[in-house]
Amino acid sequence: MIWKSKDLLSIEELSKNEIETILETAVSFKSVSERTVKKVPTLRGKTVVLFFQEPSTRTRTSFELASKRLSADNLTIQSSASSLTKGETLLDTMKTLESMKIDALVIRHSCSGIPHLLAQSMQASVINAGDGFHEHPTQALLDLLTVRENHPHLDQLTITFVGDILHSRVVRSNIYAFKKMGARIRVCGPPTLLPKDFEKWGVEVFYHLDAALQGTDVIYVLRLQLERQKKNLFPTLREYSQLYGITSDRLLKANSGAIVLHPGPMNRGIEISSGVADGSAARIDDQVSNGVAIRMAVLYLLLGENPERRTP
Ligand code: NCD
Repeated sequence: MIWKSKDLLSIEELSKNEIETILETAVSFKSVSERTVKKVPTLRGKTVVLFFQEPSTRTRTSFELASKRLSADNLTIQSSASSLTKGETLLDTMKTLESMKIDALVIRHSCSGIPHLLAQSMQASVINAGDGFHEHPTQALLDLLTVRENHPHLDQLTITFVGDILHSRVVRSNIYAFKKMGARIRVCGPPTLLPKDFEKWGVEVFYHLDAALQGTDVIYVLRLQLERQKKNLFPTLREYSQLYGITSDRLLKANSGAIVLHPGPMNRGIEISSGVADGSAARIDDQVSNGVAIRMAVLYLLLGENPERRTP
């Protein structure tokens, strides 16, 4: 298919066809990272700006590597070191970047909706690298790719998201993504960390982990996002870990051959034991490798030569 969108803002607004196009493009880019010379000239002359207002290791470095491997020029702006600290508005900062003729802005922001707002007023492509509690589209795409490598028929599998559903943009993007691909979706966590009426999302809600894991092919462990919790939502970390932590024993409750994903960063010993994180069921390293390929695919589809792409 011919890629038409200028931006990548959410999984919600992607069609199944668009998701498949990104996954196929990523598969074709995976080999670039295996070569001794890890570079292709595809985006030579393009400029990609990474603007991260929240901490990030995986997402930021993999976008940076992805754009470097495609030969684009890139620069990273940490909001704490920008003129935002002097009172400049985000829109003015972005206008400044536009005047320097950037081609893409990769943005992570603590406010939901900021990438959408910027995309409306910018000529440059805007890529959402995580906005508040809302979405983290490239994370869901790399997760789809990782799961598909193990289960080619996504419409035949059951995936269970475990833990801090309430604060997770990763789970929102993943629910849209796996639903579009036809998977059966479960969520499991303490009632205080599950949004109300979550059944309306077309997922099965569980409060007991053992019940949720029965019949599960993919266990997706979420980080306990303590930095986003304004009040105590569960008694103690110890109790949380006993009830919802994924350990080797717990893994046995799932289908045989079940795999385990985690978006990182992990709280070892809380939501996941080291035995599982470093064990044979974990696909966490594959998620990271696939992250580079997915971000190469997204940059390529959005910035590569294509006269049909929409402009604002
Ligand atoms: C996630 C995020 O920032 O939303 N991390 C990531 O991008 N790999 C998940 C998290 O922080 O728990």
